[in-house]
Order: sequence, then structure tokens, then C-alpha cells
Amino acid sequence: MLRLVSMAMPDSRPIGVFDSGMGGLTVLSELVQKLPNETFLYLGDTARVPYGSRSPRTVRRYSLEIASFLEQHDIKMLVVACNTATAHALPQLTERMKVPVIGVIEPGVRALLSSTRSRKVGVIGTRSTIKSAAYETEIQKLDPGVTVVSQACPLFVPIVEEGWMNKDFTRLAIREYLAPLRDQGVDAVVLGCTHYPLIRAAIQQEFPGFSLIDSSIEMAGAVSASVRATGIEAAGSGSVKILVTDVTEQLSSLQNLFFPHPVSGVEEILLPELSTTP
Ligand code: DGL
Repeated sequence: MLRLVSMAMPDSRPIGVFDSGMGGLTVLSELVQKLPNETFLYLGDTARVPYGSRSPRTVRRYSLEIASFLEQHDIKMLVVACNTATAHALPQLTERMKVPVIGVIEPGVRALLSSTRSRKVGVIGTRSTIKSAAYETEIQKLDPGVTVVSQACPLFVPIVEEGWMNKDFTRLAIREYLAPLRDQGVDAVVLGCTHYPLIRAAIQQEFPGFSLIDSSIEMAGAVSASVRATGIEAAGSGSVKILVTDVTEQLSSLQNLFFPHPVSGVEEILLPELSTTP
């Protein structure tokens, strides 16, 4: 007797991942470990980093330019690794793209809410992410009874890029930024920026009472679940290609810092400018 078994065909198209620069490689690093069969096409906007001090309108324009570039490369999903881009552009990206779009904020918030006992949570990120209140909005949407204390930590990105994970200066900055959160009874803090996982250990040492949520790990879990749920898994062995908008002097040291895995190539590209401003 003939039995028909319905099986989804493997989908070998790449997953597009983008960030303002090389920091999003922390997210890519988690993704390749969680999804070893997938091909990833990462775009770091190194010509225009940082996004964290830019206006919402500019971050939206940059994000949409990148998304339309990646769409032309036949991606099957768009992963917005950058917290600042997620904070300002996720609805516009979701509306414009034909493929699923996953932002970094919601997975981090879900983990944050399941970690708090005091029901007072902390959010740290770039100035632009904190000013957007995107984390607060998501937290209030999922659990309106939770109190949120937010803190911009603009020194953390340059500190990480200098490789100063263990300096006295770094510990001082951590204490300065995070003591007000502890004093207000916060017990769980989301690391709302691509760079912060690299100083997670130092933050934990200074504030052992905090539950720290690494949004890159949570994001990888969400992407993996979505790939499975939408039946677009790849088969075979995966690969990683990195595209950048500027090959800077710091590029390879940042790549090694954020992404200790093999890469099949790094290529400089020119982004097409959008004719309409969002
Ligand atoms: N990638 C950014 C973020 O996660 C940090 C670096 C920047 O300011 O562009 O918010």
C-alpha cells in the first residue's frame, strides 16, 4: 500500500541578519550555534555606526535601506540584531518585508518578565533605544503591572570596542550606571544592546543580585522557533557571509572580538539609497 507522507522541502535560502556595525555578531554567534544548518548573510553598517546616538527617522531610513538590499539577496527571514534599529524601525520593516521579520526586543522582554520576582525590571541600552521607550512599551504590553527602570549607558559601546572588559574604569562605569537600578529594587536587567553581553561577567560581579538577560541568546531561541514553526529549515551544513558598508581599520579586530567562528568571506557593499524617506 502506498502511504503519502507530507514533508516540507529544505529551504536553502539565507537568513539575513543586520546591525549598525559589528556588535550584532554577538547575535550571529548565538544563531550559528543554535542553527548550524543555516546559511547566514550578515550586514554590518560600519560606514554609519553608531546608530545609538542618531534620530529615530535616520535609524528608520538606514534600516529600510538595509532590508531592501537583503531582500534582493533572496533571504527567507530578516533578523534585526540591532536594539536601536528594532526600537525605531520594527513596525516599518515588518510592513515592508514579504518575509518574517524578528526584532531583538520581544524575546529579551519575555525572558526578563519570567526572571523577575520583585516585579521591578531594568533596561539598559543606547541613548536612542532608551529614549524610544520601546522596551517599556513591550513590557507594559505583556505585563502592565511591572515597574520598569531604564538607563542609557552610552559609554559601554566604546568600552567594549576598546576591549576593556576587565578594567577598573569599566567597573566604575558599571557601578555608576547600574546602582540606581539596584537602589530602586530592580532584580532583573535586560542587556538591551548588542555589545553588552561582552561585559556581562563584569556587571554580574558588581551586581550579583541581578538576573541578567542576554538578548542575543533569547533572540537565537526565538529565531530557531520561528524557522521551525514556518517550515523553512535548511538541511546540510551552514555557512556565514559578512557584508559591511565600510572596511575600516578596526574591522578584523572587532570581528574576532564578537565572532570567534569561521567565516566564508567579508565583502564591502554599497547600499542603494531609498527614494522616499520613511
Ligand atoms: N548595535 C547597537 C544596538 O544594539 C549598538 C551600537 C550602535 O550604537 O550603533 O543598539
